[in-house]
Amino acid sequence: MPSEDEIRDVQRATWAGLSAGWEKWDSVIMDQLGPVGAAIVERLDIADDQQHLDVASGTGEPGLSVAKLSPKGRVVLTDLAAQMLEIAARRARAQGIANIETKVCSADDLPFNDATFDSVSVRFGYMFFPDVAKATAEFARVLKPGGRLCSSVWVKPEENPWTTIAMQAIATEAVAASPDRDRPNMFRCAAPGYVSALYEGAGLRDVVEWDVDVELVTRSPEQYWEIISEHVSPVVAALQQVDEPARERIRAHAIAKVSAFEKDGKVRVPGVARCIVGRKREASDTSPRDGARSTDVSRSTQPQPEAAP
Ligand SMILES: C[S@@+](CC[C@H](N)C(=O)[O-])C[C@H]1O[C@@H](n2cnc3c(N)ncnc32)[C@H](O)[C@@H]1O
Repeated sequence: MPSEDEIRDVQRATWAGLSAGWEKWDSVIMDQLGPVGAAIVERLDIADDQQHLDVASGTGEPGLSVAKLSPKGRVVLTDLAAQMLEIAARRARAQGIANIETKVCSADDLPFNDATFDSVSVRFGYMFFPDVAKATAEFARVLKPGGRLCSSVWVKPEENPWTTIAMQAIATEAVAASPDRDRPNMFRCAAPGYVSALYEGAGLRDVVEWDVDVELVTRSPEQYWEIISEHVSPVVAALQQVDEPARERIRAHAIAKVSAFEKDGKVRVPGVARCIVGRKREASDTSPRDGARSTDVSRSTQPQPEAAP
């Protein structure tokens, strides 16, 4: 079992290596993940002077969207990989967003005082943290009373052919390590209620989960492969383990499979993410029942109604 430091070192190096792919395919990736960012932002109830923390920001979303909605506010984008945050800063400049700052740090050791932020977002970061409970406790600590945390993770592989097509193609040539629930992998947080339980363990209340559909849209099956093989962490890692002829066979296999998703001159491959929102207790929360669990897992492109207090 690797130590927490070793996990962080591997993640830092992995995402430094993937950063060029994320910048190259920025518009395709942001279009795919956009519905999830929108769902997160909608649930955070952003004011025009919001103090917001985006954790595992990568190239900047959903933190940059929050910054646009909050012209008098401040958004801090944080990530373990400096190279990802450099792209986020470039994207912010290109979009004319000035009310952001970036900070390299790990989710489980945030360099901020208690009760600093009105809201915290974590889009597709949870599955990479060395200690997910410690990270959640940090998010709760830096939230102001009444502040909200909203995150997203991937649901099970069967509902995410946009990535499983590539992984199945790789499995025809290489033995993939079986995913370990306690170590970083894309589907580590996929079980319904997994992230809700972390929120509740950190004392958050009114916890609600809901599913959001996404679609990866590419110009062709060949472009699908180019994009996936340059920015999806397990795919990039697995391809480094095989030789060039095997890589070519994997590519051909994936292209043949993804062709089934061609429609109207594009390739449209679906996926499903889960969003989880919760609120930090405030002084007016008197009854212990206020924090009663109300996990609602349903498929929707719209957030579900809030749990009754
Ligand atoms: C899939 S990317 C998500 C980026 C962005 N939030 C988005 O949705 O486009 C995952 C990010 O998590 C970051 N990460 C991994 N481990 C981390 C940790 N321990 N603390 C903070 N960020 C971490 C990676 O560097 C990477 O930028």
